[in-house]
Amino acid sequence: MIYIDINQERVPALGLGTYSLTGQACRTSVADAILLGYRHIDTAKMYDNEQDVGYGISDASVDRDDLFVTTKIWHTDLTRSGITAGLEDSLQKLQMDYVNLTLIHWPSDDMNLEECLETLMELQQQGKTRLIGVSNFPASLLQEAKSIAPIVCNQVEYHPYLGQSAILNVVREHNLMLTAYSPIAKGEVLQDQNLVNLGKKYGKSPTQITLRWLVQQDNVAAIPKASSHEHRAENLDIFNFSLTDEEMDHIHSLSKNHRLINPHFAPVWDD
Ligand SMILES: NC(=O)c1ccc[n+]([C@@H]2O[C@H](COP(=O)([O-])OP(=O)(O)OC[C@H]3O[C@@H](n4cnc5c(N)ncnc54)[C@H](OP(=O)(O)O)[C@@H]3O)[C@@H](O)[C@H]2O)c1
Repeated sequence: MIYIDINQERVPALGLGTYSLTGQACRTSVADAILLGYRHIDTAKMYDNEQDVGYGISDASVDRDDLFVTTKIWHTDLTRSGITAGLEDSLQKLQMDYVNLTLIHWPSDDMNLEECLETLMELQQQGKTRLIGVSNFPASLLQEAKSIAPIVCNQVEYHPYLGQSAILNVVREHNLMLTAYSPIAKGEVLQDQNLVNLGKKYGKSPTQITLRWLVQQDNVAAIPKASSHEHRAENLDIFNFSLTDEEMDHIHSLSKNHRLINPHFAPVWDD
């Protein structure tokens, strides 16, 4: 495993995404992932699976302190009371006293950013979340958020077809973490001949090459979702090889501004 050291927390650079996993499938996936060696789990109130994630974690019987659990506050809850009640509800469903990281899931035109971040800071001081951060914040808004509060993360879509250079510049300037969601472009990388060819050199799949490319970058974590044991095991098996600088650059050059997630309430992207 590669770790990202951030504000006295050690974040495993590879985690399990859980969007669209619910019920028993979610519970089993989370428990199985932990048994495989995953120690970083990503959920959100909006995924409607926090209770199942919590059950999966307790089934796996690991020390809570060995896990890094992230949840998120939905964009319609971005008021002082909405954020406070939202995190309380997430903790209750997860059956936990604290999460490691709480994110604003999407920015909203209606939010008062200062008030939102102050509320998150209060929850952090109360020990309900170890770290605070944002998700889907364009570079300029990330910069503004960082000037208000000690946020540590921006979780955004990032894969070989969507470069994130502006956000990465802000992330590295302030030693934050970029958590890459849809890291294997929802499976699109599987057909990519560039990645297939690179994989042949290392005996790895295009998915593994892509995940390695992400976690080999400074301050970048990745949270692929996988509902099968085989995919979860494959995605974790990326720590026994490394890509050369030339290969890293080659994968960067595949970027073509191909964004997969862009709901009607998304911000104007500045990358
Ligand atoms: N902050 C946000 O707004 C936001 C937005 C989107 C996603 N996310 C987070 O990021 C996580 C991942 O993103 P995502 O689910 O959109 O996309 P993704 O992880 O890029 O792709 C998931 C898809 O790839 C397949 N897959 C996984 N491993 C594979 C492997 N080794 N070989 C072949 N196929 C494989 C999965 O199939 P199987 O399930 O069949 O294994 C699933 O269909 C989400 O679950 C969520 O936690 C956050």
